[in-house]
Amino acid sequence: MITYTNSITVEEYNMLRASAGWSVIHPEQILAGLKGSALIIVAKHNERSVGMARLVWDGGFAALIKDVVVLPEYQGQGVGTILMTQIMDYLKSKLKPGYIIQVDLMAAKGKENFYEKMGFLIRPRENRGAGMDLWIKG
Ligand SMILES: CC(C)(COP(=O)(O)OP(=O)(O)OC[C@H]1O[C@@H](n2cnc3c(N)ncnc32)[C@H](O)[C@@H]1OP(=O)(O)O)[C@@H](O)C(=O)NCCC(=O)NCCS
Repeated sequence: MITYTNSITVEEYNMLRASAGWSVIHPEQILAGLKGSALIIVAKHNERSVGMARLVWDGGFAALIKDVVVLPEYQGQGVGTILMTQIMDYLKSKLKPGYIIQVDLMAAKGKENFYEKMGFLIRPRENRGAGMDLWIKG
């Protein structure tokens, strides 16, 4: 059975990123990022971390979802949907009348459909330019 927690080690975090072909992050930056995140949800199977999703939120109207990944052998079983739903439920619980929150994310290539099912809209579209990003290196 898959369970969901809020803690992950630096090693597991990089292992999950590597499973998606993503760059390894310096341990100090992982710890700083986890400390600075509003929420991290980790899917566990037999004590092993098999998926994660992380929310960066400023407490106001700006939110960013990062590091959504499920190990290949656990994909297609609804784990990603539960991770995203828990993040979105948390944010929705923070809404008060008159509040709005814009939730940003960068879909990996070919994964747009996963987020569209949850209501996210692809950019660019009418009146909206493309999402943009830039990696800077030390
Ligand atoms: C994208 C990812 C997180 C989805 O997690 P998952 O646990 O496999 O997703 P779910 O089983 O909850 O699937 C939910 C829906 O998304 C769709 N979906 C899942 N994986 C998909 C994929 N690779 N491409 C397109 N759609 C996908 C499915 O159609 C599914 O809908 P259904 O239940 O109606 O069939 C997972 O495939 C993954 O970790 N991929 C590698 C890392 C990555 O690309 N992450 C996204 C970064 S932005």
